[in-house]
Amino acid sequence: MTEATVDHAAELRSRLTGELVAAGHITSALVEAAFRAVPRHEFVPAGTPLEVAYNADESVVTKKDEHGVLISSVSAPFLQALMIEQAGVGRGMSVLEIGSGGYNAALLAEVVGPEGRVVSVDIDPEVTNRADAALKATGYGSRVTVVSADAEYPVPDGGPFDAIIVTVGAWDIPPAWLEQLTPTGRLVVPLRMNGITRSVAFRREADHLVSTSAEVCGFVAMQGAGEHAERIFRLPDAHGRHIDLRFDSGAPENASLLDGVLATGRTEVWSGVTIKHRVSFADLHLWFACFLPGFCRVAAEEGTELAGESGTWFPYGIVRGDSFAYLAVRPALEGAGAEFGARAYGAHGEAAAAAMVEQIQAWDRQARRGPEPTIAFWPVGSDHTQIPDDAAVLTKTHGLVTISWPAS
Ligand SMILES: C[S@@+](CC[C@H](N)C(=O)[O-])C[C@H]1O[C@@H](n2cnc3c(N)ncnc32)[C@H](O)[C@@H]1O
Repeated sequence: MTEATVDHAAELRSRLTGELVAAGHITSALVEAAFRAVPRHEFVPAGTPLEVAYNADESVVTKKDEHGVLISSVSAPFLQALMIEQAGVGRGMSVLEIGSGGYNAALLAEVVGPEGRVVSVDIDPEVTNRADAALKATGYGSRVTVVSADAEYPVPDGGPFDAIIVTVGAWDIPPAWLEQLTPTGRLVVPLRMNGITRSVAFRREADHLVSTSAEVCGFVAMQGAGEHAERIFRLPDAHGRHIDLRFDSGAPENASLLDGVLATGRTEVWSGVTIKHRVSFADLHLWFACFLPGFCRVAAEEGTELAGESGTWFPYGIVRGDSFAYLAVRPALEGAGAEFGARAYGAHGEAAAAAMVEQIQAWDRQARRGPEPTIAFWPVGSDHTQIPDDAAVLTKTHGLVTISWPAS
């Protein structure tokens, strides 16, 4: 690497750090200093343009599986900053990173300092070898211990940790993560809740975990013993193109009822609930995931009617028997912005769309203007009588996830 390239990388790193501070993703001096210090471009695959390596919002792909599915990446800087801040990592702490890449572990090593400890574990030896080599090449080799193992289980000779940062999409919280966490420790995990993922920071409260913050995020899915595959129903249209419905839980018993559904007439129902342009409504998706039976995520192949209408619908839907509905918007009748509604196919499409609209209206009345929901995890054996009556409850293998919106 030439001197000019090194200078350019330093300039881009400084700019990136400034952007992350300005956007509020970095809030502490220690994390800011770490982003200024660690050369991110040394951890991305050779040939990655510096502008890509130092783009705040861009993750860099490092590995795909034989089907072309993304299984490893260096996460986007904004998300790495957010998660380190969510975990409250500080000087002298002992931190476990689940899912390796090298860069994030180097940031953590900078934050905890020489008196702290960082262990990074990945299930894929190719990833750990790469991360280890990059850490050694950049001078972090002695400050980070890289381990090849399935993090569903305790890391050999690992804990306890003051913070565990999971950098892979998890469907559940295995007992090992709680066993390795100190009593006052923070667990930060991209938790999938009926198809909707949030990076949730948890602290312990008596026998369960309670969220201290939750951020919208996207991650590659966990492999190994904790893998939880979605069920995918593929609906062909008249031209042989497809719409995929992905169910995290509650998939319909009899998917064949949907055969030919895209050839039926389409109906729509509107809610009267509007939103201004460029305002996030991510909480609506979580609300659907909690309270809309038959909820699924929708992906439309290029060439389908849905794909051609991009910008007027969102990839969230429900299935009701032989019919399916999806979230849609149209220009608001009054003022700038859009009105939420649902479009549907199938003999009972209108009822499916009406069920979705009912939840849009419930979210608008009960959740939209209030504080963020609280997410809790109740491990098997914890006292479930403490769960609030109005909480949505998602059953996992190792416990229950509950989501409750404070009364607004
Ligand atoms: C998004 S990447 C990690 C990014 C990394 N922390 C960084 O910021 O550069 C997710 C990683 O999780 C790993 N992974 C998936 N399932 C795992 C498991 N059960 N235990 C440990 N690692 C796992 C994958 O091999 C992949 O490398």
